[in-house]
Amino acid sequence: MAVTVLVGVQWGDEGKGKIIDVMTEQADLVVRFQGGNNAGHTVYIGEEKFVLHLIPSGILRPDSVCVIGNGLVVNPYGLTDEIDMLEGKGIEIGDRLQLSSRAHLVFPHHLVMDGFREGKQSIGTTRRGIGPAYADKVGRTGVRAVNLTKPDVLKEKFLAQAEQYNTIFAANGVDTVDAEAEWPKLEAAAARLAPLVMDTVLTVNNARKAGQSLLFEGAQGMWLDIDYGTYPYVTSSNTTAGGACTGGGIAPRWVDHVVGVAKAYCTRVGEGPFPTELLGAAGDALREAGKEYGATTGRPRRCGWFDAVSGKYSVLVNGVDNLAITKMDVLDDMAAIKICSAYEIDGERITDMPSDTADLSKIVPVYDELPGWQSPTTHVTSWDGLPVNAQNYLRHLSELVEADIGSVSTGPERAQTFLING
Ligand code: IMP
Repeated sequence: MAVTVLVGVQWGDEGKGKIIDVMTEQADLVVRFQGGNNAGHTVYIGEEKFVLHLIPSGILRPDSVCVIGNGLVVNPYGLTDEIDMLEGKGIEIGDRLQLSSRAHLVFPHHLVMDGFREGKQSIGTTRRGIGPAYADKVGRTGVRAVNLTKPDVLKEKFLAQAEQYNTIFAANGVDTVDAEAEWPKLEAAAARLAPLVMDTVLTVNNARKAGQSLLFEGAQGMWLDIDYGTYPYVTSSNTTAGGACTGGGIAPRWVDHVVGVAKAYCTRVGEGPFPTELLGAAGDALREAGKEYGATTGRPRRCGWFDAVSGKYSVLVNGVDNLAITKMDVLDDMAAIKICSAYEIDGERITDMPSDTADLSKIVPVYDELPGWQSPTTHVTSWDGLPVNAQNYLRHLSELVEADIGSVSTGPERAQTFLING
C-alpha cells in the first residue's frame, strides 16, 4: 500500500470508517491528521458496532499502530473515554496508540464557547469545541498535548486560558466554567494520556523508512475544509489531502496514493449550501434507506443526489487517484437515479464549483437521469456481479468526476466491499 491518504470528497459521513477498516488490513501504521471528536467513524465487525471519534479505526486491527497527529485538537476526556470504550469491548490498546506532542487540547471552556457562538451565528457545529480550540491554535494561545506530561505547566496554562474565556462568558451573560473544580479531573486524564505523548513525526518517518505501509485517515470531508469548503459552513481544519502532510507529519514527496471516499449519493449535516439536497418525501426516503443519522450527534442528515460538479472539484483539489464508492445498496430499490452534471446560476451553466457561498445558495442543479437497477447488491462481490444499470451509473459518475473507481461498498460489513481491477 506504501503511503496512502484517504479523504472524504463530499460533506463528511461518506463511510470512511468502513473503508479505512478494510484498508488497514494492509497498513502497519494508521494516522489521523486533523479534526477532533467531531468526527464519528462507524465500523461494524460482525454484530458489534464501533463508533470512533478520535482514535484511528486501525486500532480495531490487532497489529496496527495508530497515531493521533499534530493536526488534531484533542479533548482529553473524549480520548480517555474512547480508550475505556475500546478496552471494555476487548480491544487491546497496549502501546499501539500514540498522541503527537504537538496536537492541541480541547477543554470544557471551548465547548461552552462553541455553544455560545452557535447561538450568534449557527453553523450547525457538533458543539465539541472544535472551532474555538483551533482558533486558539492559530491565535497562538493554544495548549499543546506535550503539556499533558507536565502537570504543573498544564495546570497553569489551563487555568489562565479558562480565565480568559470566563471573562468573555461573564460579559455576555454565559455561565462561567469553574476551572479550579475541573482541574482534578483534567489532571487524572493527563496522567493517563501522558505515556502516549510523543514526537509522532519520528514514528511516521521511521515507519516510512522501514518500508512499512502507512495510511493517513481523513475526517469530515472536502466541502467542510476550512479553505475549500462552503465557508463559513465548514469545520476548522484542512480535511483535504494536503492536511495529511501538515497534520500527519509526512512530506508531500512521500505520498503515493490518494483515495477519495464518496457515497453513491450525497448527505450533509449542519447548515450551509447543499446543491442537490432533496427536500420532503424524497429526502426522507433516502434518509431512511441509508439510515442517515449522525454518528456523533445523532442528527438527521440532509440527503440528496450525487453531485458530480462538487465531486470533480474535490478530485482535483485532493489529487484523488482512486474513488471508493460506499452505500451503493441504498439505491437498490430506486426506479430512476439522478446525478448532477452541471449547475445553473442566474441562467448561466457551469461545471466548476463557485467560491462565493452566496452563489452556492442560488444553484439550480442540472441532472442526468439514469434507470435504476431495482435488485439487491448487498451480496455482490465483484464488478461483473453488479447489475448492468449499476455498472452504467458508476461509469457515468466516474467519467463526470474524472477519477477511476477503485472499490465499491454495498453494505456495512467488512466483506461487503470489493475492489475493481480495471
Ligand atoms: P464542527 O466541526 O463541530 O465545528 O462543525 C462544523 C461543521 O462541520 C458542521 O456543519 C458540522 O455538522 C460539520 N461536521 C463536523 N464533523 C463532522 C463529521 O464528522 N461528519 C459530518 N459533518 C461534520
